[in-house]
Amino acid sequence: MKKTKRILGILLLLIIIGATTTYFYYSSHKIENKEVKNTMKEEHPSKTLEVAKETPDYQEKYKNAYQEITYQEEKEFIKHINTLLDLQYNPEEINKIYAYLKEENILKLLNLNKINIDPYYQIKNFEVDKIKEYEEYQEKYKTTLEDAVLKVNIGLNQDFYTNIKDIENKNEYTVLVNKYHSLGDYTPTDLKSLSYDSKYQLREKAADAFEKLISAAKLENVFIRPYSAYRSYTYQTGLYDRYVKRDGKLKADTYSARPGHSEHQTGLAVDVWTEGKQEITKKDAEWLKQNAHKYGFIIRYTEENQNITGYIAEPWHLRYLGIDIASDVTEKKITYDEYYDLYIK
Ligand code: DAL
Ligand code: ZN
Repeated sequence: MKKTKRILGILLLLIIIGATTTYFYYSSHKIENKEVKNTMKEEHPSKTLEVAKETPDYQEKYKNAYQEITYQEEKEFIKHINTLLDLQYNPEEINKIYAYLKEENILKLLNLNKINIDPYYQIKNFEVDKIKEYEEYQEKYKTTLEDAVLKVNIGLNQDFYTNIKDIENKNEYTVLVNKYHSLGDYTPTDLKSLSYDSKYQLREKAADAFEKLISAAKLENVFIRPYSAYRSYTYQTGLYDRYVKRDGKLKADTYSARPGHSEHQTGLAVDVWTEGKQEITKKDAEWLKQNAHKYGFIIRYTEENQNITGYIAEPWHLRYLGIDIASDVTEKKITYDEYYDLYIK
């Protein structure tokens, strides 16, 4: 019994000695590490701090903040982060801003009051100056923030034909034409006649692609022909005016574009009918739906997308975008209006 007690006593002593040694060893190292870290900081200022010190914009009160902000190769970087710090963004937020936001968004941010941009970091198409509109849209339609951003960017928080923008890239094959974007009196310069009838014209690449589509369709017993291709601003004016006289403005707007707003004016859109008919048959429309993208075209106005495009379904209206984009739009099953905002602009 005595022997066991002695052994237990020795064991306990050993444990105490071990624990104490470990504790002292560990804490002294901790202090040492902390000291090393502190001297490192002093001796190794971040690039941002280094650069800041060499500019007239350096502000002593932001010394610690500079130390924590990751340097960016950007003109007037120090000036900009000073503004963000003045606006009460902390270094962590500033690092996120530079990591996630497009340059134009950062520049806009400098002129606004502090915003909580946390919910937007992962939404790549958001624009900082529209945050109020996004939130209003989300509240009104009880939708996701992603959806609100997309719809507001397209312009859908306002009526069609309001807040119209003049298109900048009128001559690009990816141009977006809709009720919020106008071509003015633009005329393409590379129009080419279609072999079916020289009075129908499309821009060069679109014309060549269309010939391929027509031939491929034939091989599968689908016989289609163009019945309207490029339309000038003046032509569209006459067309739209006639429709308005016949059906009234409200109805005409559901199936005809106002002058300046028709894809036909780009020389990249073509309407097709089934040979020998004044319409496209269901079978031929289905073939187009399955195959048009393989030749670079999309069906621009579909049943499901009326709320976004503002037009009733037009299974006969083909828009050229090139094979890659047309295939991607078709696969994603979204309108070109949405696609443009998400992937092109
Ligand atoms: N029918 C189409 C929407 C246009 O007029 O361009
Ligand atoms: Zn059309």
